Amino acid sequence: MDPGDVALVPDPAYPAYAAGVAIAGGVAVKVPLLEENNFLPDLEAIPQDVARQAKMIWVNYPNNPTSAEANLGFYQELVDWARRYDVAVIADNPYSEICFDDFCPPSFLMAGGAREVGIEFNSLSKAYNCCGWRIGMALGNKEIIAAMMKVKSHSDRGIYYPIQVAATAALNGPIDFMEGRNKMFTERRDVVVDALSKLGIKAARPKATFYVWAPVPKGHGNSKEFCFSLLEKEAVWMIPGSMYGQYGEGYFRIALTHSAERLGEAMARMARFLG
Ligand SMILES: Cc1ncc(COP(=O)(O)O)c(C=O)c1O
Repeated sequence: MDPGDVALVPDPAYPAYAAGVAIAGGVAVKVPLLEENNFLPDLEAIPQDVARQAKMIWVNYPNNPTSAEANLGFYQELVDWARRYDVAVIADNPYSEICFDDFCPPSFLMAGGAREVGIEFNSLSKAYNCCGWRIGMALGNKEIIAAMMKVKSHSDRGIYYPIQVAATAALNGPIDFMEGRNKMFTERRDVVVDALSKLGIKAARPKATFYVWAPVPKGHGNSKEFCFSLLEKEAVWMIPGSMYGQYGEGYFRIALTHSAERLGEAMARMARFLG
């Protein structure tokens, strides 16, 4: 991206996408992810002049924060749309291995022609529990990767060597631990979704990611007001949806990153808070 270039960024989204565009001096045009569209971007609703101007579009499925997933049909539509408007697709897929109920999230790169129009990022952050280690990979279109390397090789150089060695061992090692790890997340997910349901809060039971995305119950203000009152009154923290963008308003995100027991305690406190 050059200064002034347009990038299409989903909303709500992981904040690094819009931040990256800002650092490059680009202009982020938000693409709403709405519940009625299963939190997928409505590509045909993007005005044609905006699509023609755009250099790139970010997508992220399985999704943080909504935990929505995309099927191969969506990725194929995305490839066709990207070809039509000459837009680079940047698919962020770090939750590819965090999946439940026999669901296996497809990769953007499985769509026909995907390698011609885009790249996919993955990371050891979630699949191998290496959050914060900053080690991952990008695959796909050679020119996009070369452009990225031009910037990256001047900004942070190599990854700390012991982390490279650990990552190599992880990627070459057995992956049977993932099944047990995903079972653990399934159990936690069910504790949270069942408790929300008992409280009359309808949240989808995610098939991937370790997040539950739920609507703010009526009468508790906006997402920030709801989350901060729960924090003050019951010492339970959830992320207000508006922190992921304006279209995240009206929702909150629970991370399944504590034990089922502790999540159960948090949900009991939420029940007490809601009276
Ligand atoms: C959608 C998404 N992309 C990227 C990351 C970060 O990955 P890494 O730790 O490899 O920087 C996260 C972590 O929260 C995420 O949710």
